[in-house]
Amino acid sequence: MDIFKLIKKIQENLFFSNGQKESKKNKPIEFPTNFTWGTATAAFQIEGHPDEYREKLSDWAEWLDKPEKVKSPNGAGLAVKHYEKLEEDLTLINDLGADAYRFSFNWAALHRGPDDFHEETLAFYERLLDGLKVKPFATLVHFVLPNWLAKEGGWENPNTACEFNNFVKFLLENFGEKIQYWITFNEPNIFLGFGYESGIWPPGKTNDLNGYFKAYQGMLTAHELAYKSIKGYNPSHQVGFSQNMYYFQSYQQSQEGEAGNSNKPKIKPETTTNTSHISPYKRRVDLDLVPAVIRDQLHNYSFIESCLDMGSLDFLGVNYYTRFIYKFSTQAKDPANPDLDSLLWGQLQSTLKECKNKENSATRVRESSHNSLGWEIYPEGLYKVLSSEKFKKLLGNKPIFITENGYSYIETSPEDKDLEDKYRIDFIKGHLEAIHRAIQENVNIQGYFYWSLIDNFEWALGMEPRFGLIHVDHETYNRAPKASYHYYSEICKTNQVI
Ligand code: FCB
Repeated sequence: MDIFKLIKKIQENLFFSNGQKESKKNKPIEFPTNFTWGTATAAFQIEGHPDEYREKLSDWAEWLDKPEKVKSPNGAGLAVKHYEKLEEDLTLINDLGADAYRFSFNWAALHRGPDDFHEETLAFYERLLDGLKVKPFATLVHFVLPNWLAKEGGWENPNTACEFNNFVKFLLENFGEKIQYWITFNEPNIFLGFGYESGIWPPGKTNDLNGYFKAYQGMLTAHELAYKSIKGYNPSHQVGFSQNMYYFQSYQQSQEGEAGNSNKPKIKPETTTNTSHISPYKRRVDLDLVPAVIRDQLHNYSFIESCLDMGSLDFLGVNYYTRFIYKFSTQAKDPANPDLDSLLWGQLQSTLKECKNKENSATRVRESSHNSLGWEIYPEGLYKVLSSEKFKKLLGNKPIFITENGYSYIETSPEDKDLEDKYRIDFIKGHLEAIHRAIQENVNIQGYFYWSLIDNFEWALGMEPRFGLIHVDHETYNRAPKASYHYYSEICKTNQVI
């Protein structure tokens, strides 16, 4: 069947996020003329650099050997062999018809010791940048550290920021004329949370607040140094970072929302045998806002505010995937870590818990309400994040790029490819509608990058979750564009969402 007929057919059968079948004829949504359309990837998730795993060049290459930390099979660090298949992937990137491509440099493979830069890896990036027919958006650190720096304390050691700046200068010497958009860090908040609170990622520290803040400071210094180096090289270059932003909502508000924004919360009073305990849901003040607001500040805003304070942010990248709902409790346990008392007077109510429970059930393979990682699909949350008073006030008219947003499913067998991936198409449409609404309210959103161009290695969760517009066969490494690739391609080419 002709691919466009196929897409149309899928759209006709789509169920939209509110669970109702779309009845009225779709009116196309027009995006601003200069809106940037793109896709995103990260080096460690796709490349499979031949030296990296073998020589343990990075902290993540070493982490792969911890079966209790990374879900197997991980393909011995080969990811999806982008390093080997660069030319084929370039054709897929260029044929998509987008305006931009976000990739990350493999710092560990390029920078192997003080003043030791690897020529062959440099040549790979020359081929990538020369072969791209679209604007490159270059991420400098996407979680992964060179092992020689990680072993000396990583971001906790101030020397890492200095070496990072040397790396940036090396990139400027080689690619300063080819790249205008520079993303210093991907999601410092996720790196710090997983590396220093839960310990599920390198450096694997648990509730190490001291390490957390030292590393935070190190990354901030690195960002500042890189900002100055890049602007010193060419003041018209644009420097920002990508922040993971969740929509944090109070439980009470989430219930009001479900009740159609009525003033009367639809919450059943909690019954309790302890008469001294007053249910928070009988209170007139929404105490659930306490943990939600604190999380919002710590997770979403701290690093942004630090960069703004230093005057080192030309644009902000926003990575959005889901929302979290919080309930107030003075004795809260964190359901994700039952042994842990919450430090933040709140109980995480929603998706993490479901994510945990899903481990033994086969239900979260493919569905429209959650991705295969158990993250709730909630496009409205993206609109809420982008249009909140706090966001608007802080960012003013600074350009915003949505640098990540995507949907994952898993396959139950090698035959189960789901190349028609209708939920991904629905996902993209829903989130673009949310972005468009924020643009109508004068939020200066200048671009959108779908995560990800291609199926890849999803960190601790291994190869199973598939976020790509392009399918990769894990045996042959063959690529096959999914229906969402063609759907997104139409959007990129027409600047319209149908
Ligand atoms: C983001 C990461 C990205 C990918 C997506 C699913 O937090 O930046 O590398 O893993 O989640």
